[in-house]
Amino acid sequence: MRRKFIAGNWKMNTTRAEGVALATAVANGVGTQADVEVAVCPPSVYLAAVGEALAGSAVGLGAQNCYHEAKGAFTGEVSPAMLVDVGCKYVILGHSERRATFKETSADVNRKVVAALAAQLTPIVCVGETLDERKANRTKAVVREQLEGSLGLLTAEQVVKLVIAYEPVWAIGTGVVATTEQAEEVHADLRKLLETRYTSQVAASVRIQYGGSVNAENAASLLSQPNIDGALVGGASLKAEGFLAIVAAARK
Ligand code: PGA
Repeated sequence: MRRKFIAGNWKMNTTRAEGVALATAVANGVGTQADVEVAVCPPSVYLAAVGEALAGSAVGLGAQNCYHEAKGAFTGEVSPAMLVDVGCKYVILGHSERRATFKETSADVNRKVVAALAAQLTPIVCVGETLDERKANRTKAVVREQLEGSLGLLTAEQVVKLVIAYEPVWAIGTGVVATTEQAEEVHADLRKLLETRYTSQVAASVRIQYGGSVNAENAASLLSQPNIDGALVGGASLKAEGFLAIVAAARK
């Protein structure tokens, strides 16, 4: 059984005080229940403060990006080991905003995934098509290409340690959520790809989150699908109440 995993991607939002308050409220709301895995991913400068607020709770800490090198002359970058050092368990990699705005390629994402795994972080590897690509019937080809490129030559032992997030670009921050059918279709196809590249056992154990305008209202229906194992939540993760409602939906 794949344990459902709900992660909040705060993106470039909150002040330090707001982040600490939000994390505290999420930790209190989740309590000690471990049936659903929960994480929050604050801006990197607030990781330590948010990590302190989460201490002793069942909520994990994640970063939104990292660099693939361990240390050195890489001004402005943060290494996987540094993230572990401040208490991170997860790191989001290859988010479409990083692919589009910061020109990250799947090869870049693959280097980061390899480095994150080596540092014992759980990568949340994002893939997703644009609206034009969907309209051109290229959804499956695009997400397959992104996933293949992001996984590169990872072994089965490495792949079972990561999480995949399917995030259609047209659904991110737009309020336009993919229908459960649209999401499930892509999730099932990604799982098929894992089965072809690795084994059915690997495919059955890797969690695939959906992301893109997930909220308290649409979460239950998305999470009821056989291949949707959780959610990567942006906007709706910035309010504890809404985020906790999504966690509650994953419990059902
Ligand atoms: P959204 O963002 O929930 O605000 O659409 C999701 C994401 O980008 O991870």
